[in-house]
Amino acid sequence: MINIPVLTIDGPSGSGKGTVAQLIAKDLGWHYLDSGALYRVLAQASIKHGFELGDETSVSTLAQNLDVVFSVKNDELEVLLEGQNVSTLIRSEQAGNAASKVAALALVRNALLERQRDFRQLPGLVTDGRDMGTVVFPDAPYKIFLNASAEVRAQRRHKQLKEKGIRSNISVLITEISERDERDYNRSVAPLRPAADAIQLDSTSLGIENVFDRVRAILR
Ligand code: C5P
Repeated sequence: MINIPVLTIDGPSGSGKGTVAQLIAKDLGWHYLDSGALYRVLAQASIKHGFELGDETSVSTLAQNLDVVFSVKNDELEVLLEGQNVSTLIRSEQAGNAASKVAALALVRNALLERQRDFRQLPGLVTDGRDMGTVVFPDAPYKIFLNASAEVRAQRRHKQLKEKGIRSNISVLITEISERDERDYNRSVAPLRPAADAIQLDSTSLGIENVFDRVRAILR
């Protein structure tokens, strides 16, 4: 495992980490893990099975047995939950908020740990999330922490949601994103933090291509 390289890109929502991670993975021909999608799917599955999002025992048991399949189709991540395509459903801001509720539960995070580590396959892995560099892959040789101002992040989310055909309102988004960030930064288990050995980048005034170039330069 130790010899399989991993690039972790952590940061708050809308920092651009998902887009950059996918581009880098494609460029390098490495595997890609969108760890946020795992929490989003789990929250959807919990709702589907009628569990309260704070019911740690039920949600963590579900996490252990979660029937989810990820695949990349036409450069887009396709997510199947119990055989049903939930790729668009899990992208709404409500789904993100529900994800951050189940993600605050220690037993749930534990239940998903090995599943995430299993993505570490040759020739390498690019992964994005909140605790990729701190908890899931602490020995990763390449770690980035990507941030941007709350306003720019809300604008990016707005654009992304629009592209997926999901309607949103910027001021509502700013409130929802701040609420989610607050929960992610302040939870007691695996809070959103840059790893001590992560390189921090601020993408507020950088286009995705610039961030991509910088990350590529760091890898070199
Ligand atoms: O990255 P994304 O916005 O899809 O993540 C949705 C939510 O999942 C985050 O707000 C966070 O609460 C949770 N998450 C997490 N740890 C990760 C990835 C996502 O707690 N590694």
